[in-house]
Amino acid sequence: MRMVELIEKKRDGGTLTTDEINYFIQEYTDGTIPDYQVSALLMAILLRGMDDRETGDLTLAMAYSGEVLDLKDIAPFVVDKHSTGGVGDKVSLVVIPVVAARGLPVGKMSGRGLGFSGGTLDKLESVPGFRADLSVAEFKAQLARIGIVLTGQSANLAPADGKLYALRDVTGTVPSTPLITSSVMSKKIAGGADAILLDVKVGSGAFMKTLDSARALAEGMVRIGATLGRKVTALLSDMNQPLGCAVGNSLEVREAIDVLHGHGPQDFDEHCLIVAAEMLYLGGKADTLEAARTQVTETIASGQAWEKFRQLIIAQGGDVRYVDEPERFPQAPLIETVTASQDGYLAEVRADEIGMVALGLGGGREKKGDIIDHRVGIVMHCKVGDQIEANAPLFTIHATDAARRDEAVRRTLRALTFASDPVEPLPLFYARIT
Ligand code: URA
Repeated sequence: MRMVELIEKKRDGGTLTTDEINYFIQEYTDGTIPDYQVSALLMAILLRGMDDRETGDLTLAMAYSGEVLDLKDIAPFVVDKHSTGGVGDKVSLVVIPVVAARGLPVGKMSGRGLGFSGGTLDKLESVPGFRADLSVAEFKAQLARIGIVLTGQSANLAPADGKLYALRDVTGTVPSTPLITSSVMSKKIAGGADAILLDVKVGSGAFMKTLDSARALAEGMVRIGATLGRKVTALLSDMNQPLGCAVGNSLEVREAIDVLHGHGPQDFDEHCLIVAAEMLYLGGKADTLEAARTQVTETIASGQAWEKFRQLIIAQGGDVRYVDEPERFPQAPLIETVTASQDGYLAEVRADEIGMVALGLGGGREKKGDIIDHRVGIVMHCKVGDQIEANAPLFTIHATDAARRDEAVRRTLRALTFASDPVEPLPLFYARIT
């Protein structure tokens, strides 16, 4: 088989066979096929799409590019969650400890920044020493010991996704339904989850811009999960503005810590409550979603979720003093707050632009292997629908130098639209698919 023939076939709208998909994934994982050919194939897939059979084959080939964990000897039932990627989305940092603190083991394989969206692993690596490259043995031992793991793809856990993910990030090949489906579901299958909660984002700061495309993505992932005997629920959630206020790695960790202490931004707090409740319900810890929600609230209020988060940080080598005293996180040298020039209402936020601002400040990667700066980012001070008075703070930029700060201010202002008449706030969720 020759890789160039696969590229040409997909370029011309053809359908790849199971053997061709297995060949490309195996050879790329082994390092036989170069990045430039895989980039071309990814672009052809993005432009031409894949049918359900190809997407299913790609998912399985990626999952089986490494070990597929069987966790039955460790935990009878393991739940997991995954977001399709958004701006300011630090939900995992809160919900994973909440669910694990209720005695439902969570072994999660997360991702890094992808395009304009941030990544949970990059965020957690703001904590000095935190390791996101656990081996299979470490994954299993930690899950057995403390019931919580948050790690990344590795040489033996979904390695094909690890390589493809990093390549897609820098080749404009992220927003593709088959590529997102296979990336998300291969990690979930490899990680051994019995039940999966999918947080499918829709809007300007998501890879799916319309409800129809987000629904199609969600339904496809639920179908694959069901075919493989997993319990899957998908929530379609709004991403037409950043979730919470903070966008940027350590800034987001600090906001997640606030929620775990019971005083985070209202939208982010509520989003976490709903996602965590869905996970407890999926895992059979509650008979109704209302009962699950009460459990989540109690687990945060009692400090048990916070204690589980600390256990996670310590177990994976992080310096727990940083999360105990978040003022220890290094701050960017330049911090500037921009205020409103007149009275009005916030009508629209281009959330993808806000993600790009954080990336441009150094919080994400322009090319493979770039080192990210965990200190930089944006803190938004208002939400769509808020009434804003002249001179009220709109957003704060955390930057390393004046040129990047000024560009970030300009770009963020361009990403905001104001109205003189009242504007409806945005919903948090649009639909639930089981
Ligand atoms: N999350 C993933 O793991 N993969 C994607 O492609 C998008 C979001």
